[in-house]
Amino acid sequence: DTGHFTYDPGFGSTASTKSAITYIDGDQGVLMYRGYPIEQLAEKSSFLEVSYLLLNGELPNKSQFATFENDITHHTMIHESLKRFFEGFHHDAHPMAMLAASVASLSAFYHDDLDVDNAEDRKLAAIRLIAKMPTIAAACYRYSVDWPFRYPRNNLEYVDRFLHMMFEVPSEPLTLSPVAAKALDLLFILHADHEQNASTSTVRLVGSTGANPYASIAAGITALWGPAHGGANEAVLKMLEEIGTPDKVETAVKRAKDKNDNFRLMGFGHRVYKNFDPRAKIIREMCHKVLAELGVNDPLLDVAMKLEEAALKDDYFVERKLYPNVDFYSGIIYKALGIPTEMFTVMFAIARTAGWIAHWIEQHETPGSRIGRPRQLYVGSDKRDYTPMDKR
Ligand code: SDX
Repeated sequence: DTGHFTYDPGFGSTASTKSAITYIDGDQGVLMYRGYPIEQLAEKSSFLEVSYLLLNGELPNKSQFATFENDITHHTMIHESLKRFFEGFHHDAHPMAMLAASVASLSAFYHDDLDVDNAEDRKLAAIRLIAKMPTIAAACYRYSVDWPFRYPRNNLEYVDRFLHMMFEVPSEPLTLSPVAAKALDLLFILHADHEQNASTSTVRLVGSTGANPYASIAAGITALWGPAHGGANEAVLKMLEEIGTPDKVETAVKRAKDKNDNFRLMGFGHRVYKNFDPRAKIIREMCHKVLAELGVNDPLLDVAMKLEEAALKDDYFVERKLYPNVDFYSGIIYKALGIPTEMFTVMFAIARTAGWIAHWIEQHETPGSRIGRPRQLYVGSDKRDYTPMDKR
């Protein structure tokens, strides 16, 4: 049945996690949030509506959505003293380092009014995290370019408010682009949740100890940063830039197959999808549309398309069922929106916060949930006696 599965992490032990939030069929390339196919949500929904769905299990009616959106809008501010926290970083600090640290620091502001066993407290934490993530993310960016921080504008919708905090400068009003906002909202929908991926499993494991949601989400952010996971979108752009032109693609494919060369095709392969990642299909189509509507001509898109074409007809990739994943094309769109490469995984984190906190809450609401405690297969030394230093 969907929602219950047992998997073997490969060490001879099994772990079973039950969840009703997201369903993936890796062979068929199926992804559903609370039973709704990702293709339908991508076409018809919004990131905030999807966040409500992930948290509550049902799509909201008009008044439920209005209340949720109002709650989010009125929790977007962060404490002024967090500015001094940022000032402790060098300006070239990686935004993911600043994001993880800042989100963990939210525990310092809210720990005394948060009882993880209280449903209302858990809901308020979810609202705070979804609301504040864009504010903190924009602050990470503005600090890295040494621009003044921008306060969230309550008269703007979620994504427009984020783009305003990112790019508005005192010298001239920012013209918000509906194309950019729609593209970013769609990318947020596609990245919002993905079952028991490494960072979500991290959030659940940390949350299972009773740790507060801010600390649990901060742990998820650090897990996401890895280039094998959410850090792949940044790594894909760097890889495409390293390849440079379509005529260098064949060499790159050869290198990716060479076991002595640790060059990997970033944005290819997946732990679960052994077919096309349904999100990659949607993003690939979006890429062409958004770049055309924004009038952006990015030669890296040609490199990406040539790379995908070459890999999909190469036995090495076909035999190993290595297809483009969610990270393969997303960076090209972020770049077209003016978002710098080192901020790509921060974008992923903003979106995944909805899924992370939904899983954190689900675990608290699942009767009989216990502390996570993966087991191992011991392959170390047999029992032996201690020998004094002068005898070794
Ligand atoms: C995300 O889990 C999730 O749901 C994650 C995610 C989410 O939404 O949360 O979907 C987001 O993390 C997507 C994945 C982003 N990462 C990348 O694009 C990095 C590049 N991909 C690889 O590192 C790799 O494919 C993984 C980590 C994604 C998957 O690892 P697996 O399933 O453990 O694959 P593997 O390492 O066992 O590889 C199987 C074979 C190996 O060759 P052989 O030993 O069989 O000879 O395929 C090869 C690997 O060397 N291989 C690759 C490759 N990926 C796997 N060879 C070249 N390029 C690649 N990208």
